[in-house]
Amino acid sequence: MSFDLVFFGGTGDLTWRKLMPALFQAFRHGKLPPGGRILAVARDERSDAEYRQFIRERFPEVDSAKRPSDEEFARFAELLHYRRMDLSQPEHYAGLKQWIDARGADTAVLYLATSPYLFPVVCAQLGAAGLNGPKVRVVLEKPLGHDLASAQEINRVVRAAFAEQQAFRIDHYLGKPAVQNLMALRFGNALFEPLWRRESIANIQITLAEGLGVGTRGDYYDTTGALRDMIQNHALQLLTMIAMEPPSTNDADAIRDEKLKVLRSLKPFTPESVARDVVRGQYKAGTVGGEAVCGYLDEVKVPAGSHCETFVALRTEVQNWRWAGVPFYLRTGKRLAGRHAQIVVNFREVPHPIFPGSARANKLVIKLQPEDGLELHLLAAKGSAQGELLAPVSLDLDFDKAFASERVGAYERLLMDAIAGRLNLFVRSDEQEQAWRWVEPILKAWEADPNGPRPYAAGTWGPPASSAMVARDGCTWDEEQ
Ligand code: BG6
Repeated sequence: MSFDLVFFGGTGDLTWRKLMPALFQAFRHGKLPPGGRILAVARDERSDAEYRQFIRERFPEVDSAKRPSDEEFARFAELLHYRRMDLSQPEHYAGLKQWIDARGADTAVLYLATSPYLFPVVCAQLGAAGLNGPKVRVVLEKPLGHDLASAQEINRVVRAAFAEQQAFRIDHYLGKPAVQNLMALRFGNALFEPLWRRESIANIQITLAEGLGVGTRGDYYDTTGALRDMIQNHALQLLTMIAMEPPSTNDADAIRDEKLKVLRSLKPFTPESVARDVVRGQYKAGTVGGEAVCGYLDEVKVPAGSHCETFVALRTEVQNWRWAGVPFYLRTGKRLAGRHAQIVVNFREVPHPIFPGSARANKLVIKLQPEDGLELHLLAAKGSAQGELLAPVSLDLDFDKAFASERVGAYERLLMDAIAGRLNLFVRSDEQEQAWRWVEPILKAWEADPNGPRPYAAGTWGPPASSAMVARDGCTWDEEQ
């Protein structure tokens, strides 16, 4: 299947840091369909050769195992082209259309890796230039709005030019192998489904922790914060996949319909429940991985006295028959104890414990990062001379090891899906809007609260109030167990 893949924002960070390396990996693995052209579009004048050099020079900044040799890069570079475009000029879109039409590939994937404020103008111009025919797909990179109204406005302009089936909204967490595995675990196996409900599950914890700070992105981050940056999208997407009902097929809309139902079932926040069930924090100076680091307010491009949250922990419920009363705890933050993303499903205690210590023996840990795997925790007899001593053991599945040769990165997977037209791992507009509808009361409550976020030392698990919040339910976060 021949394709043209066009990156608007072709010289931006996302393109050279994530997208080009992902494409190169697909190329190296022989997964890139033959007959492809990759076109980068940006404002300044460059030749194809200059653009190839620009990308080549930046490749060393990515993971060393993924770096191409000169010979490999030269073969990959033959696919790369460059075109100067002023995104406000209709004739530049007409020129792009000619370039695409002249070859008539099977599909054209237009990836908006630009600043989101350009989405409306680019979509409108693409529509006006006729670059929205049935062979065209548009890929939209987050942030998709900063609240419900702005997300609706983006969707309105996208819809004016493209059908929903042509719109591929990226949430790169959906491209992570562990997330796809969650679908396989739940709907490819009969084992867990009978247990996957309130009768057997005590609580679910989703943690997306990062050791890194905001780096050089202080200006972007300060207008975003952890709730918009990680909870509204990545954490909620994980929650939907944990909580959704079995879809009737593996088709994109069957899956997305079920995810949407979960988002609609989330308990709505009120100002009172925000005060009780949401903790926001901001990192102060501390030590991460043995290295002393500064506080958020001392990061570059962060305004003095900012109240931007770099940590959020919250408690919610999915209000339906399967999940009524089961707490879902979500937590994310920068400069926490390390890079650590996982979902923990804590099962209930045995109804009548006959062994000491058998309370809360079972949990399933779905590990996303840094490793990708599954751990099932059980209580077992040690078989020691003292007789009845029990000890926790875990069944460990390391998918990185089991499927090493086939595991691909999130962007590689999502780019290949966009080229092939598979929408399963992309977010539909109604899901995205519902997620904004749910987080908005939190944003409003914070705006009205002069206190700002709670401090936490870099390198810890966030403010103590986060542990106190789960302790109210008689729970602890996984690392405290
Ligand atoms: C992005 C956020 O969506 O996800 C970043 O904007 C964050 O702030 C990143 O660092 C985390 O992604 P990953 O794949 O490294 O966990």
